[in-house]
Amino acid sequence: MGDDATDGAADPNDADDETVIRRDRFSGGPAREFLSSLAGDSRIFDADLAVDRAHVVMLAEQGIIGDDVAGEILTVLDDVETAGHSDLPDGEDVHEAIESAVIDRVGPDGGKMHTARSRNDEVAACIRYRLREDLLDAIEATLALRESLLETAAEHTETVMPGYTHLQPAQPITVGHYLSSYAAAVGRDTARLLDAYDRTNESPLGGAAFAGTPFDIDRERTAELLGFDRVVENSMDAASARDFLAESTAALAIHATTLSGLAEDIVVFANKGYIELSDDYSSTSSIMPQKKNPDTLELTRAVAGDATGELTGLLTTLKGLPRAYNRDLQRAHPHTFRTVDAVVEASSIAAGAVATADWNAELLADEAGAGFATATGIADLLAMAGLPFRTAHEVVALAAEKAENAADSGDSDDGVTAAVLDAAAEEVLGESLFEYVDESAVESALDPAASVASRDSVGGPAPGAVEASIKTAGESVATDSDALDARRETLSAAAERLQREVDQYV
Ligand code: ARG
Repeated sequence: MGDDATDGAADPNDADDETVIRRDRFSGGPAREFLSSLAGDSRIFDADLAVDRAHVVMLAEQGIIGDDVAGEILTVLDDVETAGHSDLPDGEDVHEAIESAVIDRVGPDGGKMHTARSRNDEVAACIRYRLREDLLDAIEATLALRESLLETAAEHTETVMPGYTHLQPAQPITVGHYLSSYAAAVGRDTARLLDAYDRTNESPLGGAAFAGTPFDIDRERTAELLGFDRVVENSMDAASARDFLAESTAALAIHATTLSGLAEDIVVFANKGYIELSDDYSSTSSIMPQKKNPDTLELTRAVAGDATGELTGLLTTLKGLPRAYNRDLQRAHPHTFRTVDAVVEASSIAAGAVATADWNAELLADEAGAGFATATGIADLLAMAGLPFRTAHEVVALAAEKAENAADSGDSDDGVTAAVLDAAAEEVLGESLFEYVDESAVESALDPAASVASRDSVGGPAPGAVEASIKTAGESVATDSDALDARRETLSAAAERLQREVDQYV
């Protein structure tokens, strides 16, 4: 409190006097805008009101402030909420502005709201309180994407397509197998977000500036009233820790990276005509009327850049910060909020694009056998018949070379046939291929669908194996969905409990 406030001439109940002193003592000058986070703090306006309410209820329960004062403060907090963030008085941040608004309405007793706390534990509590909602939305978005991938995969367990390495046709797989691979990856993204949520949902409140408080506060109680799972015990850690931001942003950036791979594939598949995006997820060109462009997926792909940039910005801001609170931290959480907004949107777009796209089964089947993509299957067949795999590999490689030479010289366009393989075997082994395998088995292994069906070990592309994977993945979505619901219920039960407690005072 400034000297003027203790001046006997000032009426201690004159709220205006009080706020003038508060706001003007420092930073009325050129740095005011630079210092202020008030505009961006709109994101934590509701969180701050909840934190204020829980704190005031606890202070009253502990006998630190009177019930009547608590009632007055809690009553005007409702008015402040109704008036909204945009109606707050000027201030360095939302915490200061709400406190000023309370003091403006209650008088100096409104200043009791800030007993036994600091803006440092307050802002940390607000960020965690708000971020957990955002993380739950992100988790929900990953669940929707997994459902979309798995539903589409289930429709395509028999739709053969080329699989690639180095963007070269490699081995035939199915669309169901391909989409399930992304459902699995997004499943791990969900798990990382759930972990991040659980470490975010801890209460720093009561840590005060960093060094605790002499008041007989009940930290467990404010944690409970706000739906936090536990307190961040060490008061210095409570006020300083932002690793929950780093962890959340990293989990989001990893999910964005997963999305970018999926988006890139879809862009490539659309280019090849394998997939047709629904009009809802396509754009056209302003000049070329025939164009149907996969812009939504290109933007999804780009969000990985945003998220990685935000993560880098955040970690760089946090790196080397001394204990305990430093104002740098004011610029930390916006990185995470920007990331979560962009990534949730991209994830939902990817889910919609996958759910509504059409796969061109005929073209995919044709392409699945292109480039002698069944070569590995032939080598496997020979190895299963007892040839060392390396020798089998040599036979098939020579057959591929022979087929290519025949095509180049205009002799034959048939590609690798059983006859070509046999000729290669004669050269490499000095005996016929059919000493080892039946011709019909070779014909079958050259067929992409049969090749896919043969790879039926756990996680393989054979329709049965993919169906089994889809079932397990679906159970995992249900488990994660229950985990999400449980967390949402904990939060809404806490919000109701807090409201009931507040109602006893107002
Ligand atoms: N707006 C600040 C932040 O976001 C609140 C904490 C201010 N505390 C301080 N000691 N200056 O970090």
